[in-house]
Amino acid sequence: MPSYADFYRQSIDQPDAFWAEQAQLIDWHQPPQQICDYSNPPFAKWFVGGTTNLCHNAIDRHLKDRASQPALVAISTETGTERSYSFAELHAEVQRMAAVLQSLGVKQGDRVLIYMPMIAEAAFAMLACVRIGALHSVVFGGFASGSLASRIEDAEPVAIVSADAGSRGGKSVPYKPLLDEAIALSKHKPAAVLMVDRGLVPAAMHAGRDHDWAALRAQHLNATVPCVWVESTHPSYTLYTSGTTGKPKGVQRDTGGYAVALAASMKHIFDAGAGQTDFTAGPPQGESAAPLGGSDPRERRSVGVFFATSDIGWVVGHSYIIYGPLIAGMTTIMYEGLPTRPDAGVWWSIVEKYKVTHMFSAPTAVRVLKKHDASWLKKYDVSTLKALWLAGEPLDEPTAQWISDALQVPIIDNYWQTETGWPILTLANGVEQQTTRFGSPGKAMYGYNVKLIDESNGEELTGPNQKGVVAIEGPLPPGCMQTVWRDDERFVNTYWKSIPGRLIYSTFDWGIRDADGYYFILGRTDDVINVAGHRLGTREIEESISSHPNIAEVAVVGVADSLKGQVAMAFAVPRDASGLTDDAARLKLEGEVMKHVDSQLGAVARPSRVYFVTVLPKTRSGKLLRRALQAVAERRDPGDLTTMDDPAALQQVKDLVGP
Ligand code: PRX
Repeated sequence: MPSYADFYRQSIDQPDAFWAEQAQLIDWHQPPQQICDYSNPPFAKWFVGGTTNLCHNAIDRHLKDRASQPALVAISTETGTERSYSFAELHAEVQRMAAVLQSLGVKQGDRVLIYMPMIAEAAFAMLACVRIGALHSVVFGGFASGSLASRIEDAEPVAIVSADAGSRGGKSVPYKPLLDEAIALSKHKPAAVLMVDRGLVPAAMHAGRDHDWAALRAQHLNATVPCVWVESTHPSYTLYTSGTTGKPKGVQRDTGGYAVALAASMKHIFDAGAGQTDFTAGPPQGESAAPLGGSDPRERRSVGVFFATSDIGWVVGHSYIIYGPLIAGMTTIMYEGLPTRPDAGVWWSIVEKYKVTHMFSAPTAVRVLKKHDASWLKKYDVSTLKALWLAGEPLDEPTAQWISDALQVPIIDNYWQTETGWPILTLANGVEQQTTRFGSPGKAMYGYNVKLIDESNGEELTGPNQKGVVAIEGPLPPGCMQTVWRDDERFVNTYWKSIPGRLIYSTFDWGIRDADGYYFILGRTDDVINVAGHRLGTREIEESISSHPNIAEVAVVGVADSLKGQVAMAFAVPRDASGLTDDAARLKLEGEVMKHVDSQLGAVARPSRVYFVTVLPKTRSGKLLRRALQAVAERRDPGDLTTMDDPAALQQVKDLVGP
């Protein structure tokens, strides 16, 4: 076994040899002719000339060895249901969905927007799309009609797959009215809407446009829809993410590079696989020791079970609920519900019941659990867990320590982005076991030529503990974004030109690296905030608030919060303040503004407070002093204010947020 340092070095010094080897982890219809074409930087083409299919790699190729092994287990503590699909059953369901989508006019290269709760049909829809070479664009089920409409307009889907409702804390959240409103708002109209009826709430159907999944599924029960072999560089999906402008960016991912990157990450980072054949074992123990019909009667396999508590609306859901585990031949668990309902033991009861081997969650979920008694974690047998991986936001040391003590398994932080699709920084324990350092997500992962850059002059910071922008030298490794959907210019200008004098990918995060190569992430360099693991652009929220008729101007900043990491806080200048003479009137307008954001962006983006001021703190040239505003909102020293136009502006903010 190589040391991780050697493994990493090879990936950077001999990338073609390195990735050619990794490419063997997946099935190709035509093997690639060229490993990487970087003749037109920063656009990287991986595995050029190769043809493959994501769905084939996730399902079909496992039918030979593990047709009867559970592939997907969809658990909902909202509806009290558990549905399990073997690879063979998943294969059948995905073909039905693919046939239905084809019957609705979806062809290779078309987009299908998926606006779904965490139910098995959402996975069928994603896999069906890539099976036929269509691109899925999953929009988080909690998003409001305004956000949904802007994504429909940008993706121009032929069809939308949705459901009657999501459910949260036992309360149904109807999706169809939001979807209908979004379609009404959007300039682009989809030809078809496919509705999964969960029986939660009645949904109005538009004749000619809306179709019922159950009825169409019944017509395609025996459908066989072969995988379409697509070029490695054929886009598999787009996924929208927030940046510094209000317009969301469609992160576009390829097919072959993504499949290879995920297969490699399952092996090297998660040290995960379909399961081991254990000839020494006695009788099977429990459900996960599924006998798969080996010729030796003593042969037993312990199945690898991956449980990522994310949502398919996020990148973690794409990579580590759906594609990564399935490509590795593992059982994947999809969970709809809260971590604390019916009680704070629910996740660990799932770990025990399904003998989960790999678990993936977010620090914010752990902080929620931390409010409950640690004994909930001790009630269940979690000894099958190899480790718990956490990502999406900074993992603070007390949270890491608490969950580590409670679970008694390694807690592994990992840092990445929607744009990259798989971890940039973590520990590759499948290559070499490395020690965790609380507070650090770990080291640069193979394939990522990570640099710390001095923002002012573009120079690389090579010494230990120097603070710089975390940047990645091109080409980005396989699996990372190809471009911004239909906007190459935005891809180049946003990500590759933010550092003076260099063409280098900026993560927009500050970081330092210690003498041993461990990185520490110190927050964003831009106006993106992270609320309970959800990435939000403050500009998006500002645009929404300023579209309220009585708001003239607004500034939104992220403020530290012990549970959610950050929360949005708004400071707004009303157009007409004459009615805001008392607390009741201010609270009324505050409530209205919050509702306005809810309906346009969804509750995730709702500011924790909307304070009304007469003027915002700005420089004499009119630039908003966001950092000063944020500092005051966090009750910190705002620093140098010599450029500030009107000192009274910040004083108002101080008075409002209090000491
Ligand atoms: O600021 C970093 C933070 O989340 C951003 C990416 O968010 P998103 O696109 O939603 O992707 C999440 C994929 C896991 C990053 O730019 N972030 C993500 N992981 C960490 C993190 N910050 C600190 N530590 C992490 N482990």
